[in-house]
Amino acid sequence: MRWLSTSAAVLFAFFQLTATKPLISKRWDDFDVKHAWADIPKGWELHAPAPSDHTFDMRIGLKQDRFDELLTALYEVSDPYHPKYGKHLSKGEVEDLVAPHPETVSVVDSWLSAHGVEPASVQRENGGSWITVKVNVEQASRMLNASYGVYRHGQTDDYVVRTTSYSLPRILHDHIGVVTPTTYFSTMRTMKATSFLQPQIEALQDGDADIAHKLINPGSLATVPSSCSTTITPACLRALYNTSTYVPKATATNSIGIAGYLDEFANTADLQTFFRRFRTDAVGGTFKTVQVNGGGNDQSDPGVEANLDIQYTEGITFPTPNVYFSTGGSPPFTPDSNTPTNTNEPYLDWLNFILAQSSIPQTFSTSYGDDEQTVPFDYATNVCNLFAQLGARGSSIMFSSGDDGVGAGDCRTNDGKNIERFQPNFPASCPFVTTVGGTIRVNPEVAVSFSGGGFSNYFARPSFQSSAVSTFLTKLGTTNSGLFNTSGRAYPDVAAQGQGFQVVIGGRVNSVGGTSASSPTFAGVIALLNDFRLSKGEAPLGFLNPIIYSTGVAGFNDITSGSNPGCGTNGFTATAGWDPVTGLGTPDFGKLQALIG
Ligand SMILES: *[C@@H]1O[C@H](CO)[C@@H](O)[C@H](O)[C@H]1NC(C)=O
Ligand SMILES: *[C@@H]1O[C@H](CO)[C@@H](O)[C@H](O)[C@H]1NC(C)=O
Ligand SMILES: *[C@@H]1O[C@H](CO)[C@@H](O)[C@H](O)[C@H]1NC(C)=O
Repeated sequence: MRWLSTSAAVLFAFFQLTATKPLISKRWDDFDVKHAWADIPKGWELHAPAPSDHTFDMRIGLKQDRFDELLTALYEVSDPYHPKYGKHLSKGEVEDLVAPHPETVSVVDSWLSAHGVEPASVQRENGGSWITVKVNVEQASRMLNASYGVYRHGQTDDYVVRTTSYSLPRILHDHIGVVTPTTYFSTMRTMKATSFLQPQIEALQDGDADIAHKLINPGSLATVPSSCSTTITPACLRALYNTSTYVPKATATNSIGIAGYLDEFANTADLQTFFRRFRTDAVGGTFKTVQVNGGGNDQSDPGVEANLDIQYTEGITFPTPNVYFSTGGSPPFTPDSNTPTNTNEPYLDWLNFILAQSSIPQTFSTSYGDDEQTVPFDYATNVCNLFAQLGARGSSIMFSSGDDGVGAGDCRTNDGKNIERFQPNFPASCPFVTTVGGTIRVNPEVAVSFSGGGFSNYFARPSFQSSAVSTFLTKLGTTNSGLFNTSGRAYPDVAAQGQGFQVVIGGRVNSVGGTSASSPTFAGVIALLNDFRLSKGEAPLGFLNPIIYSTGVAGFNDITSGSNPGCGTNGFTATAGWDPVTGLGTPDFGKLQALIG
């Protein structure tokens, strides 16, 4: 049946075409701009025209025929009041819903053929909705009426092949969502890893045996030790977020994944040292490294971000299986060679890899991001939609909210208007991820000043947060008016500690801070909730946002002081209820167990 209707569609398209356009080739020249920058993205300069015989993998995201049905399904399975709550979709069910229409496949195939790309050589992923073809610069420039150049990043000395604008034949705009690599310049190295070492905070060293000992057994302490105000260990977090007495039971089925980029490698020896210092019952606990798209695993080069992530997800979730995904994509690029090189599209590489697995972790944490305005709109929406697929499959996706408050630097827009606006982060601004801001101190916790927060200019406010955010905006009045988009998706959704984390790097304990610490912490608590649900034979939590903004609200410690200055302003202020500094607050595992467990 499908075959019949496909060929009928092709025939129909063919007759239409011959009837209205005398020259088949003509329609491929009728270009309309898909995305263009006003200026070369900040930090980059044109180094040279791209050699015409330089080859690369072009990845094309096709329009997903029934994507609205996927979204309906996602919200049904994530809404605790819906009869389908928890009935997550299988890989096959998701792929059926995101598959392109046969007509899309045929029109795109004939465009590829017209440019000398054999449809048989096309690699098809994600239900056929993402296709990869090998092209050279000359072909790509003709296909997209683009002018590819070799661009160099002044600070990092990265070279990439990109174009400042690209077009598609007019008739393909209804069929193609995004083409890469084109105008997304931010490479892996310039993606901001939202963590930093804090030499000013003294790390706990071996001499501090007394305090270290006390911190290993939080269950025996009536209150959270005051030392947790300056130095954070797993014991602080387990006491603060009320997980100390919980023993994971579903470790045969439950797992947590950490997405790693930028040649950040998680070190196994450092994890053991960390356990011996801060969680002795976990000594011997391990994690698995999965290498995606040529990602490395150099055990002689421990990464600050990678070690922070794995030590804290494991420090909270032990003995739950932890999986570290090391995604490749920043090889040395030789600007004058024509050998195929990796195209530096980290989110896409990772997402397409994960979505191709039939069984995936129920919880994920990612601590990387970009300024939203530096990510082309078409690229951002297509990547965000892939996160929706992960949610439909039953995974909870956590992202750091960023470390610049409402924005760093002069916060000028890059649309040619050069006006001052707060700078939201992506993927933090994608409605299908749960974005985690940062706190500091204990009894009470307060917002940490770098906690990224704000309002998307790309994604409209989803209904799950409309009432929480309207309440905040009403209280806010005219403060910061004109500097942010009142109708945008607002974040963070939640928060967790973000400063003074004790992390073992190369055998030594360092203090590390950033919302990079907050995301794995919050994800660890969610992984325990998933353990609890799975141990009772229930489905994992999946896409969290609908449930945390409804039945889960009372399971959070509301953070009501502190602010996130930036862009030369005081930013926003944490207040009772949701706010764009700490979201709904920090998790209380015991209460969340009762409410949504
Ligand atoms: C192709 O792009 C160039 C700029 O690079 C532009 O001047 C030209 O009009 C475009 N052609 C079409 C058919 O849109
Ligand atoms: C504000 O956000 C909406 C989406 O909610 C978007 O359509 C609009 O373009 C944004 N406005 C600005 C000025 O970015
Ligand atoms: C911790 O969780 C328990 C349930 O396990 C709950 O009764 C208690 O109120 C929680 N403690 C705090 C400090 O919130």
